[in-house]
Amino acid sequence: MAAIALCIAWMAVSCTSPPPPPRATGAGGTVDGRTVFVDRCARCHGAEGEGGIGPRLIGDDRLAGYGTALGLFDYVSQVMPADAPGTLPADQYWAVVAYLVRTGGYGDPPEPFDRDGAARVTLTRNVGESRGAAENP
Ligand code: HEC
Repeated sequence: MAAIALCIAWMAVSCTSPPPPPRATGAGGTVDGRTVFVDRCARCHGAEGEGGIGPRLIGDDRLAGYGTALGLFDYVSQVMPADAPGTLPADQYWAVVAYLVRTGGYGDPPEPFDRDGAARVTLTRNVGESRGAAENP
């Protein structure tokens, strides 16, 4: 009986604690970043990242403030989605960050896009290279 009570107590604790933020060591590779964005981010950030409840992510250079793609990954994987932080699998976070980097005009993410690769991607935007998103009207 005591063992069962202990088990129930343990389950209660583990159900209420937030999951630890993912600490990915490598990119999944098979996950499509645009699909993740549309499914999990567009609701607040707009279908093309133009902004909504959350700020614009694609089409200006605000993500440059994260310094590198790794900085952006660490923020996104710990804080987003704003209503369920840290809940996506690590490969989905990598894919969506790669999507933001590429579509936002910060260049092509390296392969593999992992912590080492992302650390080498400086978020300096080449104006005119933004793809798939309307510029500010
Ligand atoms: C429930 C709404 C919501 C969802 C879903 C959501 N976000 Fe956000 N996001 C926000 C809000 C609100 C902010 C502004 C937070 C702040 O300023 O503290 C934000 C901020 C951000 C920022 C920082 C922008 C900046 O200017 O620094 C990034 C990057 C971001 N979100 C990425 C994502 C990604 C990627 C996803 C999908 C995995 C996502 N968000 C899902 C609401 C959301």
